[in-house]
Amino acid sequence: MRTEIVSAVRAGQTSSGIQADDPSQTDRTAVVRAESSEGCAKAIKLLREGEVVALPTETVYGLAADALSVSAVAKIFEAKARPRFDPLIVHLPSRKALAEIAIVESPIASQLIEKFWPGPLTIIFRKCDVVPDIVTAGLETVAVRMSAHPVFREIVSTLNRPLAAPSANRFGRVSPTTGQHVLDELDGRIPLIVDGGATEHGIESTIVRIVDGVIEVLRRGPISEGMLQPFGEIYERTSASVIKAPGQLPTHYAPNTRLALVDDLKNFSTPNGKRVGALFFRSPGGVGEPGPRSATAATGALREVKNFVAVRHLSESGNLREAAANLFRMLRELDVENLDLIVAERVPGEGIGAAINDRLERASNRLAD
Ligand code: TXA
Ligand code: MG
Repeated sequence: MRTEIVSAVRAGQTSSGIQADDPSQTDRTAVVRAESSEGCAKAIKLLREGEVVALPTETVYGLAADALSVSAVAKIFEAKARPRFDPLIVHLPSRKALAEIAIVESPIASQLIEKFWPGPLTIIFRKCDVVPDIVTAGLETVAVRMSAHPVFREIVSTLNRPLAAPSANRFGRVSPTTGQHVLDELDGRIPLIVDGGATEHGIESTIVRIVDGVIEVLRRGPISEGMLQPFGEIYERTSASVIKAPGQLPTHYAPNTRLALVDDLKNFSTPNGKRVGALFFRSPGGVGEPGPRSATAATGALREVKNFVAVRHLSESGNLREAAANLFRMLRELDVENLDLIVAERVPGEGIGAAINDRLERASNRLAD
């Protein structure tokens, strides 16, 4: 692949601290800051030419291409090494553009759009003929959302074309929440990453479809069951046995290191001689208890007792939104510690906590491989 490095990158670091690419290396991926207008212009030009570009969204980074171009979408599958049977999400330039690619049959869907778009909610619709089969893996339905990220919105609305964009990781791997994660996954495989810093939600959008007036949740995410409840009866179709969409395979979201999921890390005993890393929900100090110093001391004590080689807390204060935003970054950090095992603690199942536990569950299914 021929890669052009734009001057914003040569000049120094990106907003998330990525080192500038060496201009002599033409096979590497360019990284541009989201706030540089040159960066956005470059992304728009490449997308117009039928190329793929990694863009930040409010959930995770997406690998975008023109959704109505078969050859552009084919490049997404190639870069991710994603099987063609796994359909993509289409991101709209505006609410109005929905009618060009999908048929809205349910009034509940219209209400969800009104309430949650732009935002981290993907809705499945019957597709129009204009949407190529490669996008939907031959299904008669298409997954659609509208990103709320200002950079994504600016680029997609300037293009005024729908963009297909799966998470910008290699197939089966943890979704990227920073530009650096995308670079780690796809360096040399795509021409450009627009780096907008860490993403807000940190986990992928909630996916729903409406069947006979019931809201079926196909993938849990930032729009929780409680937030959907006012709009209709909810049916959670998220367990491995009933999965309809291939992307909801139980081993999706897996780090390379084996992961065990437990209810309470305090009851875990480290096997002798094993390098074990721990992913706690919160610091053992707890909310309302003494500040960070004693929390750190408590962690230190626990670490000593359990012989953990590495420790992370999803949220020191036990905030589930913060925990979701940190989840994939911390899994990646533990994944490079050369561990025999990551042991992770379930988080409280309310709100976005259910979506976090889903990701941990899937990552732990690697144990059954
Ligand atoms: O937050 C997100 O949704 C991110 C950002 C980039 O928008 N995207 C994302 O895309 O997570 P991806 O491709 O990693 O996950 C899309 C999921 C897959 O599990 C796929 O199987 C499912 O959506 N999907 C796509 N089209 C579908 C359809 N017609 N029916 C059911 N599931 C579908
Ligand atoms: Mg994905």
